[in-house]
Amino acid sequence: MSMASLPSTDRQTMTPATLYDQLTSQLLGLLADERDFIANAANFSSLLYHSLPDVNWAGFYLLKEGELVLGPFQGKPACIRIALGKGVCGTAAERRQTLLVDNVHDFPGHIACDSESNSEIVVPLVDGDRLLGVLDVDSPTHARFTEEDAQGLNDLVEIFLAASVRLVT
Ligand code: SME
Repeated sequence: MSMASLPSTDRQTMTPATLYDQLTSQLLGLLADERDFIANAANFSSLLYHSLPDVNWAGFYLLKEGELVLGPFQGKPACIRIALGKGVCGTAAERRQTLLVDNVHDFPGHIACDSESNSEIVVPLVDGDRLLGVLDVDSPTHARFTEEDAQGLNDLVEIFLAASVRLVT
């Protein structure tokens, strides 16, 4: 597996559509020969952290015995356990719905792991009717994430789940 690297200035000026097209190719390359969930989640979080402009945390919380537990991530150390329905992650998980939060300080019950975070996007990981956890990405910039990010990240999550969880047919 080899991963093309781009100067960060290119990523910052690129349209979201082009950026997510590149991320799709890179993720497909990273996951091509591997189905281990944790290994693939670790590389996926690294890809996002190093490729998305203006993010300070990218990673996973995984559902274990009814609560979210910190999984592979990039960024500063984070809180370890989040109850379903709590914070942005627990709310997105409980609703099984992508949440875009422009200002985390206005979100009731937001859990502050890194004081630099000001906006956040959380995408649930759902396999059929089974909730597996969430993908969480944070930014120091208010309203950093758009509907294009929501669509792009949902598409990448589908690729990750197809490669790491779902039965190959
Ligand atoms: N802010 C999240 C907690 C996880 S950290 O951002 C990594 C929340 O409110 O659920």
